[in-house]
Amino acid sequence: MSEAAGKVSLTGIKPSGEVHLGNLIGAVRPALRLAEEYDSLYFIADYHALTSIRDAELLRHYSRSVAAAWLAAGLDPKRTTFYLQSDVPEIFELNWVMSCVTGKGLMNRAHAYKAARDRNVEAGEDPDAGVNMGLFNYPVLMAVDILIMETDVVPVGKDQVQHVEYAADIAGSFNHLYGDAYSFTVPKAIVPESGTGETLPGLDGRKMSKSYDNTIPLFLPENKLKKLIRRIPTDSTPVEAPKDPDSSSVFQILNQVAPPSAADVVADTRKRLEAGGMGWGELKNVLFDVLNTELAPMRERYEELMEPGSELDETLARGADRARTRAGRVLGAVRRAV
Ligand code: TRP
Repeated sequence: MSEAAGKVSLTGIKPSGEVHLGNLIGAVRPALRLAEEYDSLYFIADYHALTSIRDAELLRHYSRSVAAAWLAAGLDPKRTTFYLQSDVPEIFELNWVMSCVTGKGLMNRAHAYKAARDRNVEAGEDPDAGVNMGLFNYPVLMAVDILIMETDVVPVGKDQVQHVEYAADIAGSFNHLYGDAYSFTVPKAIVPESGTGETLPGLDGRKMSKSYDNTIPLFLPENKLKKLIRRIPTDSTPVEAPKDPDSSSVFQILNQVAPPSAADVVADTRKRLEAGGMGWGELKNVLFDVLNTELAPMRERYEELMEPGSELDETLARGADRARTRAGRVLGAVRRAV
């Protein structure tokens, strides 16, 4: 039996933008692969997004859109538990209890809060300018997301590892005080490898990221996807000149997103670029074709789910029921303990 058997994995997804290709390759697919080994929970951390999104319509849209994207990418709501954080009020009750066992100093040292302070100080502002208590308390809420589901492992990007360590610390404080009555499972972060082990470049060659505004959104209509790929900057090397595929972001994207069924196309493209038999325009057409073939079925599923009254809402409601049962058990034990 694998050492993951019977263990619980939990992934929180902050709905703060449209899902893009970099998310799919670097986060969505690696996290979905864990469902094969672990008892897996996935949730949309909509109340976490509230620290920065103040437009209700927009937050509602991102929450549905991100949920639909994960389902379209293959999340199976029958084999996993998939829910909206705000549908599970138990989380917010436990949040209070856990803030009472968390040192303020720990929060002072959290990366996101410290970065905000440093920016303020550098700009000559009050250190806490623009910092709301949601941002400050963010790591406690995240710890509760994790602990209330008795999570063993949390797959996250490197930037979130500290938060999972905080969850372990906070569990430890609680267990130290109340461990005779109830003990939380102490979680561990795992940083899953993306399939290729490389980061996906964005439209400008830097890592594809919402904060660089260089992403390829996953569910663009076909014509927009084509236009966006056309706009990836390339140099003026003539068609006949030999080219280094590995220094071209168009080729790197192709190489990383191509499914095994397109391996021949990738190998052939590499050969022709190196031999000087392919221009950037043709390379972009190849990328568009491969990407569009890969994304078309997902796009269709996504659009179905985004229709008002689609099964999306029901799926999330069923997930919330299951999540609440689980959370209620833990919260009940905690209430007795405190
Ligand atoms: N903080 C995470 C992010 O910004 C999202 C998140 C919230 C999360 N709660 C979580 C991730 C619990 C893992 C577990 O991406």
